[in-house]
Amino acid sequence: MTAFMEFPVIKPVLIAAALLSALPALAQGTVAPAAAPMTDAQLVASFSGSPSRFTQQGGETLYRSICQACHMADGQGAKTGSGMFPALAGNPKLAAGAYPALVVMNGLHGMPPFGHQLSDAQIADVVNFVRTHFGNHHGDALTAQSVQALRPAKP
Ligand code: HEC
Repeated sequence: MTAFMEFPVIKPVLIAAALLSALPALAQGTVAPAAAPMTDAQLVASFSGSPSRFTQQGGETLYRSICQACHMADGQGAKTGSGMFPALAGNPKLAAGAYPALVVMNGLHGMPPFGHQLSDAQIADVVNFVRTHFGNHHGDALTAQSVQALRPAKP
């Protein structure tokens, strides 16, 4: 391939890279759209700032905001062409509170971890909600303290 042929290929890639690096700044509203693309250092800093946290409170509100999208409104789960979202309704694995708390904290295969975006109290609340709704009747509620005990020990 000649240099003449390469130029039109490289240029769109550079433009795409510049656009991508500007996206996080746009999302945060800190940089005007017309501003120059961020440097690599700025780009890295934009990701390593304080991780976004969910501000919603209360088990049901948290469930509706986070979990419902995958586990559905009544916890019945879903089977789609490409994925399987297990039912939480009548799920025997919710019998012990530690299991769902660890799944919410650390994720599980296709489920993303929420441990950095939720406080101990928020995890306790949303787990208590799913363990006492959708036909589940596990009365031994988790507390923020019991969730904190499941967190990895700080070095
Ligand atoms: C992006 C989609 C998604 C979201 C959001 C999500 N989950 Fe999940 N969840 C999954 C998938 C997929 C699995 C199955 C993982 C596997 O076993 O492969 C799962 C598994 C689970 C399990 C384990 C079920 C079992 O039978 O082992 C629990 C408990 C659970 N999720 C609770 C929650 C709660 C509570 C929330 C909200 C805080 C939540 N999930 C948010 C996708 C999601």
